[in-house]
Amino acid sequence: MEFPITRMRRLRRTAAMRSLVRETHLRPGMLLYPLFICPGESVRKPISSMPDVFNLSIDEALKEAHECAKLGIGGLLLFGLPESKDEAGTGGYADDGIVQRAIRAIKADRALDGLLVISDVCMCEYTSHGHCGIIAREGDHYHVDNDATLELLAKTAVSHAKAGADIVAPSDMMDGRVEAIREELDIEGFTEVPILSYAAKFASAFYGPFREAADSAPQFGDRRTYQMDAANPREAMREIELDLMEGADMILMKPAGAYLDIILAARERFEVPIGAYQVSGEYSMLCAAFEKGWLERERTILESLLAIHRSGADFIFTYFAKEAARLLRS
Ligand code: PBG
Repeated sequence: MEFPITRMRRLRRTAAMRSLVRETHLRPGMLLYPLFICPGESVRKPISSMPDVFNLSIDEALKEAHECAKLGIGGLLLFGLPESKDEAGTGGYADDGIVQRAIRAIKADRALDGLLVISDVCMCEYTSHGHCGIIAREGDHYHVDNDATLELLAKTAVSHAKAGADIVAPSDMMDGRVEAIREELDIEGFTEVPILSYAAKFASAFYGPFREAADSAPQFGDRRTYQMDAANPREAMREIELDLMEGADMILMKPAGAYLDIILAARERFEVPIGAYQVSGEYSMLCAAFEKGWLERERTILESLLAIHRSGADFIFTYFAKEAARLLRS
């Protein structure tokens, strides 16, 4: 009988051997944790479609921030649920808005110095209609007015930078917003604040649970006139290229798990830091399977994140950040 010359199993025989030849590693520092900040005190309101995720008042958010810092998590992504909403989403760029106050509170706490504060720049949590931009109406028709929205997004980004945000992350998908935000940040003296643009953000059913968490479901229509068609990988590359030309420092791919081809294509093509967002639906889907006992919780969480990192994401936004960091440290 002939022996196989190459035996792949030789390097899989023991844990030490497997560790030696492991090609990809997750670190707590590459994980970023999204928080939904709401008004009030001692508020910890559960989100029915996202187990263990809450709407948090600022004092409660600070507790989460401390836990994240201790776990060595890279940073926080802040979303706001304002006291009231209006057509123009004014709560989004108010100097004393909910996110602005949260950023100040986190930045005032020296123990949290190592934690990056990233602010989501969008209008959908602040507008009464739930769209990511200003609505222009003509009789029975309406559209999301791209150019009228740019100025408000830029104002929002500046208000976050003023409050102390380390990175601003526009997620609205209006054309030209990176340029508009960069210009306004620079004019206002925030030349050193980087922009992480959600460059390839697809109109996705996987955002379902987020809309409960951020109370941001559109009241009419949907987001397909500004977010990308799931069928279009080439268009995603154009979106990225444009955002980089406009001055984006880093790019974000979203969703992640069902879009690994997009992450890989971006990785092969662009020499910039790439983030990916394991979105609410990806999280809830896995949690549902864990609840049913159909998937093994810890292994599946780490495998889902490893796959995203392996396909080219340098960092990952995930609702599993705390748990994954704990697993990685143990
Ligand atoms: C805001 C925004 C959304 C998400 C992040 N920023 C919702 C949307 O575009 O509908 C989704 C995040 C998630 O599903 O976890 N525009």
